[in-house]
Amino acid sequence: GVIKNEEAKRAAAARLAAELQDGQTVGIGSGSTSFLTLQALAARAEKENLSFTAIPTSIEVANACASLGLRTATLNEARPDWCFDGADEVDDRKRLIKGRGGALYQEKLMMAAAPKVFIVVDQSKIVERLGMNFAAPVEIDPAALSLIYEKLEDFPGLQEVTLRAAGGKDGPVITERGNLIIDLRFSEIADDAHARLKQMSGVVETGLFFGYDFELVLAG
Ligand code: A5P
Repeated sequence: GVIKNEEAKRAAAARLAAELQDGQTVGIGSGSTSFLTLQALAARAEKENLSFTAIPTSIEVANACASLGLRTATLNEARPDWCFDGADEVDDRKRLIKGRGGALYQEKLMMAAAPKVFIVVDQSKIVERLGMNFAAPVEIDPAALSLIYEKLEDFPGLQEVTLRAAGGKDGPVITERGNLIIDLRFSEIADDAHARLKQMSGVVETGLFFGYDFELVLAG
């Protein structure tokens, strides 16, 4: 059930918190699993009197860091010694879909910057076919929306494109960088899908995380 799953996530969070060494800088991913991990890190740091600097990947995480009283920095000021994040889907070749929370761009910057990456997921995120539960999010510049729709018309394996709508506001989601998110449903996601999307003018980043080296931390 939900409670058992939460317990499993907390146990995984505690395992990750044990990685922290005094004086380190840690990249903090977004989402509920990352939030539990951040709490575990802060608790261990306080208990053992360790200091660390957090680099948040979203406003939500930055707020959480502030309320926990943590020192923060940006990727322009510091580099992470390691980072952790959740994911929406993981396949057996360690391909990830991320971006349910809309923070995919900063999450990918963090993964590109960190020499060591932990991805914390529960069993529900492990999929047989990438894209079976989640669409692949793509962050795009608003000025390119119509052009990108046109270019996507004959994109291999693509079944449906949806402009992500906002909760609590009329119209689309506006990302922290002032961009839009389109969600792409595929029959199958080819290995070159990320590269093909990324080379389109107006595409800022995709939620397809392919070819990243990370340690998978399974909750439960
Ligand atoms: C945020 O943009 C996503 O990439 C998250 O990493 C993902 O949605 C995981 O969130 P949960 O841990 O809440 O499932």
